[in-house]
This record gives sequence, structure tokens and C-alpha cells, in this order.
Amino acid sequence: MNQDLQIFENSELLANAAARAFTAAAADAVASRRSFIAALSGGSTPKALFSLLASPAYRGEIDWQAVHIFWGDERLVPADDPGSNYYHARHLLLSQVPIPSTQVHRVRGELPAGEAVEDYTTQLRESASMGLAWPRFDLALMGLGADGHTASLFPGSTAVMEEERSVLAVTADYAGRPAHRVTLTPPVFNSAQRILFLVTGKEKATALSAVLRAPKDVQQWPAQSIQPVSGSLTWFADRAAASQLSPI
Ligand code: 6PG
Repeated sequence: MNQDLQIFENSELLANAAARAFTAAAADAVASRRSFIAALSGGSTPKALFSLLASPAYRGEIDWQAVHIFWGDERLVPADDPGSNYYHARHLLLSQVPIPSTQVHRVRGELPAGEAVEDYTTQLRESASMGLAWPRFDLALMGLGADGHTASLFPGSTAVMEEERSVLAVTADYAGRPAHRVTLTPPVFNSAQRILFLVTGKEKATALSAVLRAPKDVQQWPAQSIQPVSGSLTWFADRAAASQLSPI
């Protein structure tokens, strides 16, 4: 597995680098397969990226007619709830670009957990190559919680050990955010062509150092479960989040 860490002076420079990486991954995928399938992360970190991708500087770089968007995880709230990851991606990006609505594959958070899981599992299967249960994402954007979680794979959760199912319902109390969630599982993320973590802020420094440097313990540091089978793994961190990373 090829993994690399890039450290940026601040979150703005990181967001611009992420926008360049996103548009480059899209251009590669569209050139080779006429489509680009991406899984977005939630929370606050990717918001600056979404705004940049919708801006004149980047929006024209992507053939949005060829783009399919999924989410790595979602909170079980309605689509118009500010607690929804879809809500922010739609407001900041998807409503600003000509992506066909049929190519926006949101988790239907308004449904009961079991139905939302079943519906999203079906959406993934319908977008997969023949006989597969989920698409190989050209790009999976990932975030990192201060506790070392990613997507909705939280410390102590059995979800991080899942090897078969693509989508699980989980409950977790984190930062006052909606607790009931749906998440993709490590096998789905790890089949991606490119995985890109975006990590900013000093509150992430301990988790980032542990995930990258501590002995593997996915129950304590769930982001360590993200190890692409054959794709690339890239970490973008700002200097504040990287402040506990001692030079190798
Ligand atoms: C979510 C996210 C979650 C997020 C981390 C970091 O639904 O909350 O998918 O995994 O990426 O919690 O969140 P921030 O970017 O807000 O720090």
C-alpha cells in the first residue's frame, strides 16, 4: 500500500490541494471510464473543499454529467436537517453544479435505520460492476475525529471489524452531533482507487499521531482500519493537526 502524508501551512492551502486532487481524480476516471464515482465525507472539514469545487476556479474542471456521488456515512436525519451530511454537500456544492440528480446517491436518513441501510445497500449494488455489492470508488474522502473515528466507525464499535456487509447502522455520541447513523464499512472504503483523508485543527493532533504512528489497534483508532487493498492512501493535514507528528 502506498501511503503519503502531505502537511499544509493552513486549512485554506489544504482545501485548495484537496480540490486539485479531487479534480485530478475526476479527470483520470472520466478519461478512462467516462465516469467518476466518489464518496464524500461529512462533518465540517470538507465544507471548504465543497465550496471550492463549486467556485469558478474549479467547477469547470469536472465533467459533472459523468459524476456519481455517494456518502461514506450519514446521520439518520431528514435531508433538510442541518445535521445531515447530504444537506451541507447539497447546499455548498451539488446545488451549484450540473450533476444529474439521479447521480446523487444519498443515504435516506429520514427512514428508520434498517430501511435506510437496506436502501443504501441497494443503491451501492445498483452502481456496482456486475456481480459486485458496491462500486469501486475512484475517490473516497475521509475525515478524522478527535477520538480517531472515521466515517461513522467509532472506537469500540463492532462496525470497524465488519468484513461482509457494505452498510451498517450505528449509534455514537460525538461532539453533540446526531447519534444515529449509517456508515460504509472498511471493505467498501478499502476497495477504493484513491483514499484521501482531510485533517485540520489542533484538536485532531493526538488522533492523527496515534493513527499514523501507534501500533495497529482498530478498536481504539478506527481510522487505522482504512488500508486500501490496491489503491492509494493520502493524508492531507494542516500544521496544527500534524503538530504531534515527530519527524520519522
Ligand atoms: C460525520 C463524519 C465524520 C467526520 C469526523 C470529522 O458524519 O460526522 O463523516 O466521520 O468526518 O467526525 O468531523 P469534522 O470534519 O467536523 O472535524
